[in-house]
Amino acid sequence: MDRFIIHGGHRLRGDIVIGGAKNAALKLLVAGLLTSERLVLRNVPRIADITTMRRLLEQHGVTVEDIEGDGGTLAIGGNITNTVAPYDIVSQMRASILVLGPLLARCGEARVSLPGGCAIGTRPVDMHLKGLEALGAEISLEGGYINARAPRGLVGDRIVLPFASVGATENLLMASCLARGRTEIINAAREPEIADLVACLNSMGARITGSGSGTLTIEGVEALHGTTHSVMPDRIECGTYACAAAITGGELRLIGGRADHLGAVVRTLEEAGVEVFQEDDALRVRRTGALRGVDIMTEPYPGFPTDMQAQFMAMLSVAEGASMVTETIFENRFMHVPELNRMGARINVHGSSAIIRGVHSLSGAPVMATDLRASFSLILAGLAAHGETILSRVYHLDRGYEAVERKLAQCGAQIERVKD
Ligand code: EPZ
Repeated sequence: MDRFIIHGGHRLRGDIVIGGAKNAALKLLVAGLLTSERLVLRNVPRIADITTMRRLLEQHGVTVEDIEGDGGTLAIGGNITNTVAPYDIVSQMRASILVLGPLLARCGEARVSLPGGCAIGTRPVDMHLKGLEALGAEISLEGGYINARAPRGLVGDRIVLPFASVGATENLLMASCLARGRTEIINAAREPEIADLVACLNSMGARITGSGSGTLTIEGVEALHGTTHSVMPDRIECGTYACAAAITGGELRLIGGRADHLGAVVRTLEEAGVEVFQEDDALRVRRTGALRGVDIMTEPYPGFPTDMQAQFMAMLSVAEGASMVTETIFENRFMHVPELNRMGARINVHGSSAIIRGVHSLSGAPVMATDLRASFSLILAGLAAHGETILSRVYHLDRGYEAVERKLAQCGAQIERVKD
């Protein structure tokens, strides 16, 4: 398993290109199941989760072609020959559950392994299943699998989500594109990645309105056709590198970064003493004065994103004053805390809240990644710490961030990957 060796204390300065959004690209690939025609996706990030999703889609029978040979442009096409999503793939990547709606809509049946939990929480899919039943699917669970049938096709309905679940919104959105009649999804998630999916589906011939609002209305159509769509920039990658500029007291131009996708994050950075400027094609982030402690509560978009919580916790561990971070989305997303404390941070967890007392500096140490965003939290701490930090289990990071060591080293970080 690869490790990172980081020597901290260097202010980062330079440009970093923000890649395509993982949490948009994964769903856009699945949307390729909704048509036998060719869906071409540009600006696809080169990360492990995309490779896993390609494997999942190909075992369903469609082709996923790397048309420029660099992994950045993928073409999905062909027909579905297998409606089973097996445990060995689904257990690796929870987003696999999103094939359920499209398989039901296209083929009238699906057998998808229950994803099970992951490091950050139990991650149930009850809202996905209840919503699909509202569209007429017959669903049963046995042997750790979801068996779903819609022999007479799906029929549109009014669905109220008890929580603005991103995945449930996406599964139901894709399924309802090919349902008969109108579907309304009330209390739909409003994350920008969903707006990107809506834009792609509409360019495939879907009839979806309400993008960005809490209510999505879908007029079902007979079939969707192919299109070419460019994946939106990854707002979480952008916010993560903004924290790297902040924690090292440097200045970075994040090319492709968009403040409008990062509303609450930008406001919180500014509250903490970080300067953020939107330029034509980049977000410029600089910190010259002291970092100040701030309070954060994670919420569905447009609130503060849970996917930025671990990164901010690292940054706030060296702020002046105290901060309180409350995680309301997942029940176990503080696993970076013990590792940060081993580097000298002073963080106490009380239930779903963590109190951070800022310290003057952190000390490098051997630390272990536990999940995707926690991995980067420890990198951020290592960039600011005195001495050497060795981060193990970097495979967690490789699931969702592309070329981290190259992007950071280009801006002055002393970081290298050591292959075991
Ligand atoms: C997506 O996960 C993202 N993953 C997550 O990013 C992100 O943290 C999350 O949305 C929230 O923004 C992808 O897009 C691939 P949810 P998802 O359904 O769809 C509960 C990352 O680091 N829930 O909005 O699984 C659930 O347990 C990842 O890139 C139910 O109870 O998120 C959780 O507590 C991590 N029943 C909460 O809702 C359901 O049927 C949010 O889940 C569905 C969800």
